[in-house]
Order: sequence, then C-alpha cells, then structure tokens
Amino acid sequence: MTNYVSGKVTLQSDFFCGTNPIDLIEEYGSPLYVYNEKILRSRCRELRSLLKYPRFQVQFSAKANSNLTLLQIVREEGLKVDAMSPGEIYIQMKAGFSPEDIFYVCNNVSADEMKFAVERGITVSVDSVSQLELFGKVNPGGKVAVRFNPGVGAGHNEKVVTAGKRTKFGVDPELINEIKDVLNKYDLKVVGINQHIGSLFMEGKPYLDSVKALLDIAGQFSSLEFIDMGGGFGVPYHKQQGEERLDLEALGIELDKVIAEWVQGYGREITIKVEPGRYVVAESGIILGTVHTVKNNYGKKYIGTDIGFNVLARPVMYNSHHDIEVYRKSDAKSAVNEPVTVVGNICESGDIIAKERLLPEIFEEDIIGILDCGAYGCVMSSNYNSRLRPAEILIRKCGEVQVIRRRDTLEDLVRNF
Ligand code: LLP
Repeated sequence: MTNYVSGKVTLQSDFFCGTNPIDLIEEYGSPLYVYNEKILRSRCRELRSLLKYPRFQVQFSAKANSNLTLLQIVREEGLKVDAMSPGEIYIQMKAGFSPEDIFYVCNNVSADEMKFAVERGITVSVDSVSQLELFGKVNPGGKVAVRFNPGVGAGHNEKVVTAGKRTKFGVDPELINEIKDVLNKYDLKVVGINQHIGSLFMEGKPYLDSVKALLDIAGQFSSLEFIDMGGGFGVPYHKQQGEERLDLEALGIELDKVIAEWVQGYGREITIKVEPGRYVVAESGIILGTVHTVKNNYGKKYIGTDIGFNVLARPVMYNSHHDIEVYRKSDAKSAVNEPVTVVGNICESGDIIAKERLLPEIFEEDIIGILDCGAYGCVMSSNYNSRLRPAEILIRKCGEVQVIRRRDTLEDLVRNF
C-alpha cells in the first residue's frame, strides 16, 4: 500500500483519483508528468466566468503547455488560444482550433513567419513600428492588431515582466503617431489592441491599472473589433504554507465596471479578451520522480533525484518555488521533518529543485511529487546531458490513465543527425 508520507496538502489530495504515484511510476517510467483532467476543466470554467460582459473571451496562452490532448480539452471548454510561433499555430490547428480562434502574438518574427499566419487567416499582433512595416509589406490592406506597452509591469521574476520601461515588448504609446503613419502607408486596419504586462500576479491591482491604461489607448482607434488585456493570473505555489488564491471574483467585478464604462464611451460593444496560460494549466500537472541518492556533503543533506533541470527548468531559471510531496511504498516511517536540498541528475551545481527545504525524512527509492508543474514545465524541458524527456500522462475523469506524449527513446536522440 502506498504510504503518503506528507499528507499536508489538501488541495491536491485527490489529484491521483483512482491511481497512485507509485504504480504510475512503475508503469510509465520515472520521471513522469501527470495531469488531471478534472482540475484542468475546472480552471477553464472559472476563467470563463471571470466577466459578466457578454462579449468576453478567454484565450489560452499555449506557451504554458502545448500538449495536443490538453489543447483539445481546453478547446472543448470553449477557450480560444494565442500562439507565439508557427509551431504553436501548427499544433493548435491539429488540436482543432480554427484560424479565427487563434491569435498570433508574436515577437521579432521574420516575413515568412508572418506569412505563415496570414496565409491561414490568423490575426497577427505586432509589437513594434518595425514589425508593423514588415506586416504592411507582407499583407498590404490587411487587418492587424498592435501590442502596446502600457508602462506598467508585473511578474514573479524580472525575466517575466513583459511591460514597463525595461522590457523589449510592446509599442511605447508615445509612438502612436508613427504607428498611424505606417497603418496609412500600407492601408492597414487595426482590429485589435493587446498587452501582456507579465507573468504571475497574485493581487489584481497592477492588472487593473494596466487595463485602464490600455483602454485609454484603445479609445484612439475607431475600428477595433477586440481588446486583449493579457494574461499573468497567478496561482499559489506555496499551498503547503497556506498561500491564498488570487481573488478572481473581486478582479472580475472591477474589470466589469471599467469595461462597461469604457464601452459606453466607445459607443459599441467589442470583444474583450484575457490571455492566461499558467492559471489554466499549472495546477493540473505534477512531476513524479524517484530518489536515487541520499547523502551528506559537508554538513548538508542532499536528496538526489531524476528530476534535473532538463525536466523542470523553473527553479533554476527563476528561483521558483514548487511544493513537494513524498510517497513511499514501504512501511518505513519518517520520524522528523528536516532541511534538505533536493537536486537532479544534471552535471551542474545549479541543478537544484529546492534549497534547504523542510521535508519529512526521505529515503532512497521514495517517489517525490513536484506540485503545480502543468505550466511552463514540460514545454521548457530539454534533452540536455542527452537525457530523455519524460512521458506525459493524463488522469481522465473516471480515473483511467492515458499516455498523451510518449517518453523519448534513445533513437529520438540521434534522429536528426
Ligand atoms: N500572453 C503573452 C503575450 C505572454 O508573453 C504570456 C507569457 C502570456 C500571455 C501568458 O502568461 P501567464 O498567464 O502564463 O502568466 N516561463 C515563465 C513564464 C513565462 C511567461 C511568458 N509569457 C515561468 O515559468 O514562470
């Protein structure tokens, strides 16, 4: 019988519904990405009810997770998608999204990459005067969206703050006249304006402020069909410490007010979108891995696992925290909680999942679960050290398990040589 060594996390307790981590690892190999369909669907539904405004749309930012099966579920739930590359567009169309459901929010792309979207009838957002010129050449007389930088940013790490005065993204509103000149030059029609201030806010205020700034800019374009307020909705990564959820309801009420007022001034209802990635998928994914080593090095206890930063890059890249659970097949009891450093199997000292984390005593062959890894987990994995990227499996509603991406094979490593 599986012994759940750390039973502290209530929110994820029925995550494995009908299965258990030990059996899953035995059957599908370690490490392993596990998703829960029910959680994914419920997050989609929460977001769809964010606003009461009738022409409201949720657009999933698929860079957070572009697994084909998960995209299909998101589509079934009535969400649209944004794409960052021709590759994302390609997968999204395979998942059944129609061109009207896809918004290409690109950055510094080539003419060919723009054509890829234009030829498929997908709306493109440009985020510089320079890229607008390129779009004009690729698609004169066409429809386009412009991404503005409202001058307000937010995010959990400076690497993911995508607006404000210190980032490469968006058009500075001061350049609006230059934008208008290029629009005229190529007879382009602005159908949308959009922004994305950054990733992971837990308080609604910066988002709300940025929306107000965007709406001011929007008032300067009479031909709009939509405004896209961006993503960034945070999830509580510190659930074991009781971190509160983002108050979506309160944010929704404030947004509804601001939007209703703006629409009245604008004179007609247009589509209003949000563009979340993390909020949709983060909590529906867990990484399972195996403890191969327990050692003391100069007074520090290390737990050596097979979850290197090729499997999960977030802790190394952003110093991100992920809660950890421990599962055990044997009857061995963890007597105490102790500070340990949980590491992977990559040949770099920075290959650390959690530093000096207080966890129940861990033994070799224990299975650990890294929680809230559904967003920016598998999509950021790599074959560094010629390691195989893990399989992804999905726990369906009824407890049945489906492989939704097979584990790499050794042949995959040499396929393109
Ligand atoms: N829209 C645009 C234009 C974006 O650039 C992003 C994320 C999103 C929407 C979705 O943001 P979200 O709702 O997921 O916060 N790898 C980092 C996050 C990078 C986010 C990049 N842009 C991480 O693991 O925290």
